[in-house]
This record gives sequence, structure tokens and C-alpha cells, in this order.
Amino acid sequence: MRERMRNIPFLRWLDARTGLFHLTSEALDEPIPGGARWSYVFGSGLLYILVSQIVTGVFLAMYYVASADHAHTTIEYITKSVTAGAFLRSLHSYGSSAMVVTLVVHLAQTYFFGSYKGRRELLWLSGLLLFALVVGMAFTGYLLPWDQKAYFATAVGTNIAGEVPLIGNWLKELMRGGTEMGTLTLSRFFVAHVFLIPAGIFACVGLHVFLFRKAGSAGPIDEDPVVPTQRTEQFYPKQVLMDIVFATVLVGTLGLLAYLAPVGLGPKANPADTSFLPRPEWYYLPIFQWLKYWNGGLAVVGIVVIPGIIALALVLLPFLDRRRERRPWKRPVASFSFAIVLCALLFLGWQSGHEDGSDPSVATQLSRQDSIATAFMAAPFEPVVIGAPAAAAQQLSPEAAAGRKLFLDNSCDQCHGENADGTDKAPKLIGVGTKFPLDTLKSRLLNPTKKARDADMDPVELPDDQFQQLVAYLVSLK
Ligand code: HEC
Repeated sequence: MRERMRNIPFLRWLDARTGLFHLTSEALDEPIPGGARWSYVFGSGLLYILVSQIVTGVFLAMYYVASADHAHTTIEYITKSVTAGAFLRSLHSYGSSAMVVTLVVHLAQTYFFGSYKGRRELLWLSGLLLFALVVGMAFTGYLLPWDQKAYFATAVGTNIAGEVPLIGNWLKELMRGGTEMGTLTLSRFFVAHVFLIPAGIFACVGLHVFLFRKAGSAGPIDEDPVVPTQRTEQFYPKQVLMDIVFATVLVGTLGLLAYLAPVGLGPKANPADTSFLPRPEWYYLPIFQWLKYWNGGLAVVGIVVIPGIIALALVLLPFLDRRRERRPWKRPVASFSFAIVLCALLFLGWQSGHEDGSDPSVATQLSRQDSIATAFMAAPFEPVVIGAPAAAAQQLSPEAAAGRKLFLDNSCDQCHGENADGTDKAPKLIGVGTKFPLDTLKSRLLNPTKKARDADMDPVELPDDQFQQLVAYLVSLK
């Protein structure tokens, strides 16, 4: 097939200028020691999720406004009004979970398979950097909807940063854009989520793929990481096919989830609500639970020291572990320590849910929060438009607008309300134009009913043209 493509004149023209044929054979003929395997699909799976996040993210950014006044309304609009908006937003949200899960699988596999060995130190480091950047994406993205959940979880998150010794306060204010959370926080998180971190991710993905190609696939666990000895198979077609199948399963699962269980949105953040119990996104629950154990003076140990040791161990791993042995059972210390950390995280996550469930007052509050959010989702989209009455007044005909002025000047608003929508003293006048024939309406103004006169409504005494304007205004009230 590729031979036939080489004969297409346009592709030949392009090749002469770009080296296209050379590039594609570089990409597709990559030798894989030991042949194609299903266990190699996670890296490319991550690339597919990244593309999906970019596409759905661009769509969300088209509607989103990063300000404390508007962010929540725009997300509500996307979720409730925009065609397929809820679906695309859910894809983006589930995509972030899929990214974290696939990333952990990819990392665990590289670790247990010893695929970081054999001059792959920089490949490993660029992978760790990507991990940190993705965690940063999850953290910054969570705040953007600016609902109760987002606001209070991020308040906790930034408070934790404040516990870091020496630079803690500075770090917290850097994230928040001040001491409190508000529009500045939102715009910082937005810029980080949409410009800064993605720029880092693009650079690191490029570097990561380049270094991977340079070092070559490490092959199965009984392969020598430096000088491969096993029979090789080309990346194309079998591994490409496996990667595509996995990507299709991923996309299909995410699509099905987004369609069947679209993600919700709670009411707008209310910083004054002291009863709200913050809970982070599920993949942050283990860390949330972990921090409960480290209070007061010990907080430093839980927030900085232990995570720092784990991070340092991961960074130094390929420099310290120089043996060529890759089989996990022949590397008991490495395998066990990783398994312990993984099990501890799973246990902490389980424990967090268990504690919430077994404390009745917490469980009640959490389910109350859930039902408030569900009710909010069920309500129709009714944006609070700032300056709406003024805008409505602008749409009046000149005659009716003059009539509105008379309505206010003659204190009709005192009883009928500023927008003629009624008060406890008098009924609303919206719709009087259709309630009465025009003549009846006019006579109600000239000779108010007994009830109106008892309530102190005086007969309207205005020159003819002004009377017409007042009537025009009343008729325009719909
Ligand atoms: C002191 C209070 C008061 C003020 C001021 C007042 N109204 Fe009324 N108005 C009433 C009450 C009470 C009724 C209800 C009478 C009834 O139910 O029969 C009424 C009825 C009406 C109605 C008939 C509505 C209906 O549905 O039956 C119109 C039209 C009306 N007012 C217009 C005006 C206009 C225009 C002004 C200003 C020039 C005005 N009113 C000022 C108290 C007031």
C-alpha cells in the first residue's frame, strides 16, 4: 500500500519538500522487541485522551467566562441550554478521570516491567513531569465551574498549600491571587488550566515521545533493556491496530458514560455557607484522607516530608537501580515498596468513603448537598441578567417608554411595583392590556374601582397625549 502511495504525484511533491515518506516510515517501522502486545497500549491511549480533552476543552472555553460573577452561569448555560453541551462537558470531566487512571496504569506498568532501565532515565523523568502536570490540570480544572463543590474543595486545596513551611503563605496567595478566593483566583486557575499547564504538557509529550523513539521500545520483561536480543516486529500494522482498538474502547466508554450519566452542577458558590462539607474529585480522596492524619505541628510531615520522599525516590529510581534485571519478582524491594504505596492509596480512598458513610451527621449533610445539586440541575436555566429592567425598558416603543416615565412620576409604582409586577397593596398590571378591552382599561384609570379608591388610588388626571402614553405603557406590559 505504501508503495502505491509513493506513486501519487501530489504526495511525491510533498515528500520532496518535507521528507514525508521518510518520516512515516520512521514512525511506522519502529521495531518492537518480542512483538506487538496489548500491554503496550496505555501510552498511546493517553495520547488519544489528551486529544479528546483538547477538543472538548476548546468547546467549553468558547462559552466560558472566568469571573466569579459569570463562570457558574456560563457552565449552567452549557449544561442546560447548549445543544450537546452537557454531553461534551461530561466527556471532558470523565476524560480527566480516564487520564488519571490510564496514567497510573502506565506508570505502574513501566515500574513493574522495569521499562525505565537501560539509558531511559530522561524518558522516565519526562514521564514523571507529565504526571505532575496532569495532576495540576485536574486540580485547576475542578474550580472552574464555581459551584459549591468546586469552591470549597479548592479552598481546602489552597489551604493545604498554605501549610507548607516558609513559602506556604506566599504559595497560597500566589494561587488565590490574594488572601481570599474570588475572580482573581478563578482567572489564575483558568490561565493555568488553559495556557500554562497545557503548554508544559505539549512540550513534555513531544520530549517524551522523542526520547521513547530514541531509546526504542523496551520489550517484554525478560528482554535486555540495553541490547535487545529478541525477534522484533514492526510497530505497523499489529501494534497500531491494537492501539486503535484500545482508543476506540476508551472513546466508546467515555461516550457511553457521558451520555448515560452526564455530570451535574451544584448551585453557585456561596462563600458564606459554613455548613458545606467539601469533598474532592474521587482520585484525590486518598490524599484528602491522608491529610486527616497529620494535624498541627505534624502537618509538615504529611504534606511535605513523606510525599517529598516518595517523589524523590521516583525521581532517583533509574539512577539508583542500575541492574539490567527487569522481572518484578527478581526485584522484590522495588516491587514491594510500589505495591505498598498503591495499596495504601486504595485503602485511604476506601476509608474516606467509609468514614463519610458511618458518621450520621456527615452522611446526612452530604446527601443534603447531593439533593440540592440534583434539584438545581432539574431546574430550568434562568440566568440572572444584570440590568434586565433597564434592558426591557430600552425595548419599549418611544410612546410606551414615555408612559413608563409617567407611571413612575405619578407614583403608580408605589402600589403596583416598580416593574408593575404587583405589591401587597395592589395587583400586578402585567397583562392588563389583554385582560380588559382598551375602553375598560381607560375607564379604570379615569374612574378607579371602589376597591382601588379605598386603597387610595386617585383617578388619573393627565393631558390627553400623556394619558395615551400611560395607556401605551400599560398595554405593552406582557
Ligand atoms: C395607593 C395605591 C395605588 C396607586 C398609587 C395606584 N393604584 Fe392602581 N390600583 C390599586 C388597587 C388596590 C387596585 C385594585 C382594584 C381592584 O381590584 O378592583 C388598582 C387597580 C388598577 C388598575 C386595574 C387593574 C385590574 O387588574 O383590575 C389599573 C389599570 C391601575 N390600577 C393603574 C394605576 C395607575 C396607572 C396608577 C398611577 C397613575 C395607579 N394605578 C396608582 C392601587 C393603586
